[in-house]
Amino acid sequence: MERHSPILQLIALFLLPYLLSHNLANTTIDLKTDESSILAFKSHITNDSFDPTLRKNWTTKTSICNWIGVTCGSRHRRVIALNISNMGLEGTIPPHIGNLSLLVSLNITGNRFHGDLPEELALLRRLRVVDFSNNSFAGELPRTWFVNITDGLEELYLSYNNFNGTIPQEIGYLSNLRVLNVGGNLLGGQIPASILFQCSQLQELWLSDNSFSGTLPREIGNMTQLQKFYARNNSITGTIPQEIGHLSNLRILNVGYNNLSGQIPASTLSQCSQLQELRLYSNSFSGTLPREIGNMTQLQIFDAYNNSITGTIPQEIGYFSNLRVLDIGGNKLSGQIPASTLSQCSQLQELWLDSNSFSGTLPREIGNMTQLQKFVAASNNITGTIPQEIGHLSNLRVLYLGRNLLSGQIPASTLSQCSQLQELSLSSNNFYGTLPKEIGNMTQLQKFYAYNNSITGMVYVLLGIGTIW
Ligand SMILES: *[C@@H]1O[C@H](CO)[C@@H](O)[C@H](O)[C@H]1NC(C)=O
Ligand SMILES: *[C@@H]1O[C@H](CO)[C@@H](O)[C@H](O)[C@H]1NC(C)=O
Ligand SMILES: *[C@@H]1O[C@H](CO)[C@@H](O)[C@H](O)[C@H]1NC(C)=O
Ligand SMILES: *[C@@H]1O[C@H](CO)[C@@H](O)[C@H](O)[C@H]1NC(C)=O
Ligand SMILES: *[C@@H]1O[C@H](CO)[C@@H](O)[C@H](O)[C@H]1NC(C)=O
Ligand SMILES: *[C@@H]1O[C@H](CO)[C@@H](O)[C@H](O)[C@H]1NC(C)=O
Ligand SMILES: *[C@@H]1O[C@H](CO)[C@@H](O)[C@H](O)[C@H]1NC(C)=O
Ligand SMILES: *[C@@H]1O[C@H](CO)[C@@H](O)[C@H](O)[C@H]1NC(C)=O
Ligand SMILES: *[C@@H]1O[C@H](CO)[C@@H](O)[C@H](O)[C@H]1NC(C)=O
Ligand SMILES: *[C@@H]1O[C@H](CO)[C@@H](O)[C@H](O)[C@H]1NC(C)=O
Ligand SMILES: *[C@@H]1O[C@H](CO)[C@@H](O)[C@H](O)[C@H]1NC(C)=O
Ligand SMILES: *[C@@H]1O[C@H](CO)[C@@H](O)[C@H](O)[C@H]1NC(C)=O
Repeated sequence: MERHSPILQLIALFLLPYLLSHNLANTTIDLKTDESSILAFKSHITNDSFDPTLRKNWTTKTSICNWIGVTCGSRHRRVIALNISNMGLEGTIPPHIGNLSLLVSLNITGNRFHGDLPEELALLRRLRVVDFSNNSFAGELPRTWFVNITDGLEELYLSYNNFNGTIPQEIGYLSNLRVLNVGGNLLGGQIPASILFQCSQLQELWLSDNSFSGTLPREIGNMTQLQKFYARNNSITGTIPQEIGHLSNLRILNVGYNNLSGQIPASTLSQCSQLQELRLYSNSFSGTLPREIGNMTQLQIFDAYNNSITGTIPQEIGYFSNLRVLDIGGNKLSGQIPASTLSQCSQLQELWLDSNSFSGTLPREIGNMTQLQKFVAASNNITGTIPQEIGHLSNLRVLYLGRNLLSGQIPASTLSQCSQLQELSLSSNNFYGTLPKEIGNMTQLQKFYAYNNSITGMVYVLLGIGTIW
């Protein structure tokens, strides 16, 4: 066996233990730093009466790595994650947080922290995930932070606070950002797409429930990684720009509750070949439903409720083989309900056609929509009787046909075949005759409205029915 040189022996005897102990001491020091940082954090909590867990648990009796909400790295036993979500804690974030030098994830959602976000957060070079949503932070978004913070930041949640002002230019420095959620604040100004475009990894952009105004900028089309875009409940005007068609990864587009107008740009949107959820409700879209809408074959949810869309439902809607929810209520649509077309949407679970000007009868083919759970066609001009085939809808839970011109006897034996039916409204039509006994067979029924018809005779007291009107 080869002998070690005296020098090596010397190292082994003296230097190694020294190096080892130094290393240990160093880790201990760092862990102590982490501990005092978190204890400083604790001391800035001014009210924990909702959930006093941390006050009792965060004590030096146990190692910091055992503290509730604290996660240490398995190798170096330093704090890598802090998760104190939904504890209703009130307080401020002290600068000491900047000493948790190996922190990767910081989640304090669902508390009542207020004041400034400390600039020292920018010292955390490994930080990837920050969730400050659902707190009481105010003032402008922390632009100095965005300049200094490591560009490793991937997810930033600042939603449901009281941040005001605009989205600062500096956000463009966060070149690895995948998720930006600033929904539910007091932010305004135009959506700074040309800046956000610099966050070239951005996949999710949440701007809902603010006061953003102006138009949807064309540059939005350059955010090619975008998968989810939420801008619900703002004051955005103008049309949907053609460039949105470049977003080949877009899955969800929600621009409900704005002041958007023009025809629904179906040929543009159909270029977003991944689009699954399209919500355009409560805007001022007008014109007809374009035929090209049928090209949006991946669509699962199409919600254009409460606009000013005219014309009939195009046949091409039958191409929506993945559609689960179709809500085009509250428009100016007319013609007969194209049941044979709609029944081609074999996945359709919810069909909302209420408050339009649909006329004609309810076609028999309605019975082919076997997945249907909610069928709402109230407040139209639908005539005739309820077709027997409606009894084939074995998954139907909600049927609202009130405020139409329907007539005949209430087809209770047919309806009782819809064994899941929980809510039935037939009020304000021209139904006549007695209320049939078979109504009592609808054991799941919770709400039944039939007022304002010509129904006579005895009203049966029906077990299990919550409301009878
Ligand atoms: C830990 O050791 C490293 C390398 O020797 C050194 O750079 C660092 O400053 C030390 N940290 C502390 C807190 O002493
Ligand atoms: C502390 O918070 C609770 C609610 O969690 C609240 O009822 C109470 O008034 C607060 N106390 C102070 C001193 O603010
Ligand atoms: C804090 O909670 C953890 C996990 O429940 C537990 O292991 C630890 O002993 C607690 N520490 C104290 C001081 O209660
Ligand atoms: C964060 O904490 C909450 C509440 O203690 C817990 O339900 C949740 O699973 C935690 N999340 C993570 C990512 O550890
Ligand atoms: C923060 O914690 C909450 C509650 O545990 C969780 O729902 C949320 O997804 C977490 N945030 C992030 C960014 O992981
Ligand atoms: C942030 O960066 C600016 C300019 O680069 C610098 O003056 C400032 O000290 C930095 N702040 C922190 C907390 O690093
Ligand atoms: C933001 O709110 C603060 C008070 O929290 C106020 O002083 C400031 O002027 C507001 N800024 C803008 C741009 O509205
Ligand atoms: C954004 O996309 C347009 C095409 O829609 C292109 O002309 C423009 O150069 C792009 N901008 C940047 C900064 O890449
Ligand atoms: C879109 O639909 C129209 C009419 O339905 C059709 O003529 C056209 O070829 C389709 N375009 C694409 C790209 O699928
Ligand atoms: C129903 O038709 C009548 C007569 O044509 C019309 O006055 C009324 O506005 C229509 N109602 C609806 C909801 O379309
Ligand atoms: C649809 O329903 C009609 C009448 O109820 C029936 O004749 C027809 O075969 C059905 N079509 C399909 C494709 O199921
Ligand atoms: C429906 O109710 C009637 C009268 O209440 C009863 O004779 C009949 O057997 C019931 N039918 C079913 C399928 O339950």
